[in-house]
Amino acid sequence: MTAEFGRIDPETAQVYEFQGGRAVSPVAHAKPVLFPVKRAIMRALKSQFPRISYLIWARRNPGRTFKEFYAESVTAALVGKKQHASLGPVLKTGRNETALRTFNELVAQGISPADTLVDYGCGTLRVGRPFIEFLEPDRYIGMDIDQRILDVGRGNLPAELIESKRPLLEVISPESLNRVAAKRPKWIFSKGVLQHVPPDELNEFFENLAHLVRAGATAFVFARCAEESTTLSAKTWLHDLDQLQAAATRHGMALDRPAKRRKFLRLQALSAALLTIAQLGPPDLAGIVSLLA
Ligand SMILES: C[S@@+](CC[C@H](N)C(=O)[O-])C[C@H]1O[C@@H](n2cnc3c(N)ncnc32)[C@H](O)[C@@H]1O
Repeated sequence: MTAEFGRIDPETAQVYEFQGGRAVSPVAHAKPVLFPVKRAIMRALKSQFPRISYLIWARRNPGRTFKEFYAESVTAALVGKKQHASLGPVLKTGRNETALRTFNELVAQGISPADTLVDYGCGTLRVGRPFIEFLEPDRYIGMDIDQRILDVGRGNLPAELIESKRPLLEVISPESLNRVAAKRPKWIFSKGVLQHVPPDELNEFFENLAHLVRAGATAFVFARCAEESTTLSAKTWLHDLDQLQAAATRHGMALDRPAKRRKFLRLQALSAALLTIAQLGPPDLAGIVSLLA
């Protein structure tokens, strides 16, 4: 129907007015006014239902995965439109310095330039870059859930560094995990990742790491834990350490408790004897096995 000034459009139930000969919905005027109201409502809803934005997205995107939600939610950071704590070309103040501290902390565990290392959930190579510089060519492997994230990471590296060190960047899949395991990495680290893995995907996270740990690697997993699993936002959790240890044990690994002045959990393959005990015993044996390992 043709919009007329002051007449209600029966289809949209809106009153139209003319602007420069065009019919303009009053909602268009209201948008800038409504925006802060909408934001305030969302903030109030998020405080009560931290996962609300994911639930809305999932309803609008049936059949798509949580990982796709995560990748979409960081698009603005990836294209440099928004500052982010760890992703994209524009990082928040101090975040590169934090990455260097992480690098030094990890190197102090015994990583040497000739070792092959996997950066699991490497993002846009904030911690990856100092490792690419430190390691010999073909020794750095970055893995993440989304090709666009890896592309931004590669795009941020100087061409000479890519040419001289040949970092391998892989989207996580059963095939890429097999390829990477075949390279027999000595070390894995995963920084800022586990907090974005929902409780129902923890099993998959540890299963993937087990592929590489069983090939002989030791993993350092940075994790934020709580007494019980807590949802902080649509894509952030504090995990229950007992649950993490149980998942690690299910996949033949021991996850130690965080120590004073050490921010990561160490993940190692269980010896055959401990693996048998863990598999025979009740679920709460996971913690004991991890202590013994
Ligand atoms: C906060 S960023 C940290 C990136 C990088 N490790 C750093 O410290 O700068 C989290 C990264 O984990 C990745 N990620 C999210 N869920 C994942 C999963 N289930 N497995 C592996 N990586 C995941 C994200 O795509 C993202 O790149």
